[in-house]
Amino acid sequence: MRKQKIIIAIDGYASTGKSTQAKKIAQKLDYVYIDSGAMYRAVTLYAMRENILEESKTNILIKSLEDINIEFKRSNNAQKIYLNGEEVENDIRKSIINSNVSRLAMIPEIRNFLFKRQRNYGKNKGLVMDGRDIGTVVFPNAECKFFFNAIQSVRAKRRYLEQYKKGNNEKYSQVLENIIERDRIDTNRSLNPLRKSSDAVEIDVSDLTENQVFKTLWEYISKKIN
Ligand code: DC
Repeated sequence: MRKQKIIIAIDGYASTGKSTQAKKIAQKLDYVYIDSGAMYRAVTLYAMRENILEESKTNILIKSLEDINIEFKRSNNAQKIYLNGEEVENDIRKSIINSNVSRLAMIPEIRNFLFKRQRNYGKNKGLVMDGRDIGTVVFPNAECKFFFNAIQSVRAKRRYLEQYKKGNNEKYSQVLENIIERDRIDTNRSLNPLRKSSDAVEIDVSDLTENQVFKTLWEYISKKIN
C-alpha cells in the first residue's frame, strides 16, 4: 500500500539539532526538506550586503523584499540555499548573521514575506520543515509536530564545536551569550514567538545522542505515515 504523504514540523530553540534531524527524516522518506531559519538568514545576509542592516534602514529593507529571491537546490546530495542565484550556505552561518537574524525575524513584513514562501512548499505535502513557528503558524495542521529543547550550555557547546570545525574562532562565552540573547528575542517577540504547539511532541535533547533523537522521532512518524 502506498504510504500517505504528510507534513512534519520541527520547531525549537537554536542549536538543538533540528536541521540535522529534519534532513535525516527527509532523506529517509524522500521528502522535501526546508530550513526556514536559513530563509531568515538569507534576508539578513541580503540586508548586510546592501548596507541596510541597521534598524534605521528597516523601511528600505521592507521595500526591497520583492528583490530577494530565495531558492533551495540539491547538489552532491546536500541541499544548499541560494540568494538571488548565488549559493550562500556558508555566508548565512557567519557570526554577524547570528547576531542580527533574530532582530530581523521580529519584523512583521519580513515574517509575512517568508511565511507565504514557506506555505508554498507544503502544497503537495511530503515536506519536513524546521524553524520556530512551523507547527504553530506556518503549518498548524501538520500531521506531525515536534518541539526540541535543551539546556543553553549544551547548545552553546554544540554551536561552538560546529564553528570551531569550520575554522571560525569565536569564543565559547560569545557563543553562549549569543544563544541566550537569541532565545530571549525569539521567545519574547510579539509576532509568532517561539512556542510549543499544544499538539507537538516535546523532546529534551540535552542528554540524547543524534541516533536516540532520530529513533524517538521515527517512532511517532512511522505511525502517521502507515
Ligand atoms: O534556526 P536558525 O538558528 O537558523 O534561525 C535563525 C533565526 O531565524 C532565529 O533566531 C529566529 C528566526 N526564525 C524564526 O523566527 N522563525 C522561523 N520559522 C525560523 C527561524
